[in-house]
Amino acid sequence: MHILITGGAGFIGSHVVRHLLNTYPSYTITNLDKLTYAGNLANLKDVDGSPNYRFVKGDITDAAFLAKLFAENRFDGVIHLAAESHVDRSIASPVEFVLANVLGTVNLLNAARVSWDGDFEGKRFYHVSTDEVYGTLGREGMFTETTPYDPHSPYSASKASSDHFVRAFSDTYGLPVVISNCSNNYGSCQFPEKLIPLFINNIRHGKPLPVYGKGENVRDWLWVVDHARAIDVIYHQGKSGETYNIGGHNEWTNIDLIKLLCGIMDRKLVREPGTSASLITYVTDRAGHDLRYAIDASKLQRDLGWVPSLTFEEGLEQTVDWYLSNQEWLDEVTSGAYQRYYEEMYAGR
Ligand code: NAD
Ligand code: TYD
Repeated sequence: MHILITGGAGFIGSHVVRHLLNTYPSYTITNLDKLTYAGNLANLKDVDGSPNYRFVKGDITDAAFLAKLFAENRFDGVIHLAAESHVDRSIASPVEFVLANVLGTVNLLNAARVSWDGDFEGKRFYHVSTDEVYGTLGREGMFTETTPYDPHSPYSASKASSDHFVRAFSDTYGLPVVISNCSNNYGSCQFPEKLIPLFINNIRHGKPLPVYGKGENVRDWLWVVDHARAIDVIYHQGKSGETYNIGGHNEWTNIDLIKLLCGIMDRKLVREPGTSASLITYVTDRAGHDLRYAIDASKLQRDLGWVPSLTFEEGLEQTVDWYLSNQEWLDEVTSGAYQRYYEEMYAGR
């Protein structure tokens, strides 16, 4: 079995690469990543020397490069995670999201279609997507696999578009596809532009914690390793053409989550209780900010037997421990271009 994983140097992708290498030593894993600001080979240094692992630097928007890669390799499957993934950046630079997420996905679908040439026996194209394609919920209800798409940010619109192309390649060419839509992930190696690692890093430096709006938006958080486990189960046992929602039944308002995180950080850094929370600063809300996401993952639990392995309190504690024991990782990724990003994103708020 030779699987191509795209975006394997990113946050979730690196956990998927590690999980598959550890679980299936007989598989060959090729990790294709452009190494954007979010891609970091340090995320994979523990598996880097594995004989059945190979890294290829490349860009999924480059169709000629993909055609060559697929001609030189006989991939049995593709697990596609490469994407621009941050909502705030998509508001600042929407076109980059169309290129990477829409064009990149169509190029990859096309390369797989041409390479497999109608012989789909044992083949699989797995597209990793997000619950944000469903739009926003009010106070009640949950997203199911049949919730109509209603994206609001350039990021979620580009992911919705890529999902449609994946289904179009299944309907038109018979490509054996499977899609999953997952809720917000947290864990080690997440780039500190997303809420949890950004706030851990700011607390470390005693910097303000910029809470958008009133902090009342709700997200449904899942430990990244549980997402990687779900991807494994769906890749191997999911039905072709199907969609699976992935989530941990774990809804938190941003402000409650931030207060929990602040308490953990005070304890771990041996600071007076309340020290971290005193950094909370309410700032101008994100444009088009979705109020609430919540995933109904009962199909995945019922059909494929997947359940999350950790409570949020355990997972968050472990996550804080990882960032505090890997401060050089945080220092490395927050040097250079990150400072400019932070200034541009937060200065006027
Ligand atoms: P990430 O930003 O940490 O990693 C993305 C990776 O893709 C990086 O390594 C980057 O270098 C690579 N990449 C970007 N553009 C590329 C291109 N043109 N060619 C090749 N590689 C490219 O993102 P993540 O949080 O790990 O998300 C991975 C996937 O999971 C994305 O498709 C995202 O939409 C989806 N997802 C993320 C979450 C979440 O909470 N982070 C939740 C649900 C779904
Ligand atoms: P984020 O981690 O960017 O994920 P997403 O937008 O994909 O859900 O943000 C999670 C929530 O935290 C979201 O409601 C926006 C909010 N948020 C802040 O309040 N302040 C911040 O600095 C960031 C990055 C996010």
